[in-house]
Amino acid sequence: MVNKKITIIGLGYVGLSLASFLGTQTKVVGIDYDKEKLKIIKKGQSHFHEPKINYYLKKAIKNGTIFTDKITNEVISSDFVFITVGTPIDRNGKIDLNNIKEVSKSIAKNMKNLKNKPTIIVKSTVIPGTTIEVVKPILEKNNLKESIDFDLLTNPEFLKEGSAMQDTILPHSIVIGGTNVKAIKKLTNLYKSVYRKKQKIVETNNITAEMIKYANNAFLATKISFINSIANICQKLPGTNIDKVADIIGTDPRIGRQFLQAGPGYGGSCFPKDVQALINFSNNIGYNPILLDAVKNTNIHQVNAVMNLVNTKFKNLKQKKISILGLAFKENTDDIRESRSIKLINLLLKKNCNIFVHDPKAIDNTRLVFKNKITYSNSIKEVLINSDCVIIMTAWEEYKKLKEKDFLNMQNPLILDTRRILNIKNKKIQYIGLGVG
Ligand code: UDX
Repeated sequence: MVNKKITIIGLGYVGLSLASFLGTQTKVVGIDYDKEKLKIIKKGQSHFHEPKINYYLKKAIKNGTIFTDKITNEVISSDFVFITVGTPIDRNGKIDLNNIKEVSKSIAKNMKNLKNKPTIIVKSTVIPGTTIEVVKPILEKNNLKESIDFDLLTNPEFLKEGSAMQDTILPHSIVIGGTNVKAIKKLTNLYKSVYRKKQKIVETNNITAEMIKYANNAFLATKISFINSIANICQKLPGTNIDKVADIIGTDPRIGRQFLQAGPGYGGSCFPKDVQALINFSNNIGYNPILLDAVKNTNIHQVNAVMNLVNTKFKNLKQKKISILGLAFKENTDDIRESRSIKLINLLLKKNCNIFVHDPKAIDNTRLVFKNKITYSNSIKEVLINSDCVIIMTAWEEYKKLKEKDFLNMQNPLILDTRRILNIKNKKIQYIGLGVG
């Protein structure tokens, strides 16, 4: 056990995973203003689907972790206060720091007359300069001073949805940004005490830590847009296969195989938002980020590559039954934010098709978007029966296990596999893998 008090403000993927993990080892208070979410969390259940999280959350609650909706003097009187609220983008693609500002104001209000000196840590993804130029002045408003009354660090998070718990327990690296050596040491010591394995801890200043997070996400997004561009070229070159190309270039250690999985484009709560926020920020400080614009635009157009495959097979899509396997932006999550499936369904709806969808976890979220415009089913068989075409959009494990016979109840079996997870040889089935010429 670690004898520290930790406060975590904002219980989304980052905050709740962190609270669930740290809560198994020390005293944790989790805060979120959304009372509905809190009701679920207090029962030991995550408000989103994430492998293993409920196990840790229940253990943390047993160990004394508490959850509340109020930022009070009592909760700020903590060794560490992590800010893990969302940082969406506004209509113009600019980062929206309202959550960060509001939380900073509440912390400032409740920081008076504390016996201890809390270390406040900005873990949310924030545009370079935010910790020092936005958060610090708010915290110092009530005559409080950094390094004297509180410490302020930047500590970005790199977890992935679908493996959020695993990534929280075993992060590939830890980046701590700050100027106060003692504060950095304090957080380093906390991490050293909670992580079993020796994690690489990198120290830098706040603005570089903020930049690292954007650079990390922008680079991964670039890899995906790059491989998708190559996949689209392969599509037009009989005999080529994008996976073969990726496998071989991936053996070059300067390139690496990861994040070279061609598909319908990246989605989720991070890449689209962070690439856009970085583009906007970059333009504002006087650099036109041509490459990042291309990464973003390639991704936006990638769903058209899927649509083109559909169009080559049908002169008219009206009243055709199109089945979609996979709605979540990736496997092992129920998150449909920026999911390419949602974009594809919108395009197909314009063509007046009858759309039948399946996803192991994301149906409820999708229903909120399309209501009764499409048909939902928990049975793959039902979705496929009499279908004119099935499009595989998410690489769920259960789709990988589908056999040729599972498709034989379709009208004229036609599979468009955007993730190339199936190996179909049956002549009765037309199988087209995205990026296979
Ligand atoms: C990402 C980053 O990986 C993580 O470090 C950061 O903290 C948050 O953003 P996440 O969005 O949860 O994590 O998922 P990730 O696994 O990175 O996938 C993002 C999207 O890219 C998904 O739509 C996925 O299908 C797509 N992708 C990923 C590809 O199309 N090809 C790939 O090779 C990898």
